Amino acid sequence: MTADLGFIHRFIPAAEPDNPITLLLLHGTGGNEDDLLPLGQALLPGAAILSPRGKVLEHGMPRFFRRFAEGVFDEEDLKFRTLELTRFIEAAGREYRFGGNIIAVGYSNGANIAASLMLLCPPTLAGAVLFRAMVPFVPDVTPDLTGKQALLAAGRQDPIVPQSGTVKLAEMLKTAGADVSLHWHEGGHELGQDDIAAAQRWIAAWKPTK
Ligand code: MLT
Repeated sequence: MTADLGFIHRFIPAAEPDNPITLLLLHGTGGNEDDLLPLGQALLPGAAILSPRGKVLEHGMPRFFRRFAEGVFDEEDLKFRTLELTRFIEAAGREYRFGGNIIAVGYSNGANIAASLMLLCPPTLAGAVLFRAMVPFVPDVTPDLTGKQALLAAGRQDPIVPQSGTVKLAEMLKTAGADVSLHWHEGGHELGQDDIAAAQRWIAAWKPTK
């Protein structure tokens, strides 16, 4: 664990130097930089992994941005934190010399800031696996997400993210030009094996577009 570069984080170098993908792991509320390491390693064994800890504390629980209530986001803080996270990713790329294609893997609050990264800072990510994401904010201007890819893995019975929120986010990303896949898990907010299998298939099929 290191707090350099502005975020407490973990970095695991790629097993092979020419691995084209770096996974950016973004945990859920109350998580930390260690939570998603096993998931990242299961999704793409040997990939480089960058895993920051969210800097906002809600009753001691780390998050990536402030909220007023469940699903009601502090948009000003969200945008500030999204730009801050982008600067961290750029600094980490220089420090650890990973380049190429960064694919975010976010769960819940981490998926929401990953979606925000796509909408606000399109060059930062090549794609994203969004587990249980909702619309983070509605951009004033539609970004250009041509060549970007996203997998939305949503729970049909999710009490936090209604199905309509998932569909709206998928439409928003598609309208911006992203290639969007949807996986519906029959349960709720917690991840199931089917979510992980869907993400493994999606990452295995992922190809750089440039
Ligand atoms: C959020 O605050 O980002 C969402 O409500 C998901 C969560 O509970 O973290």
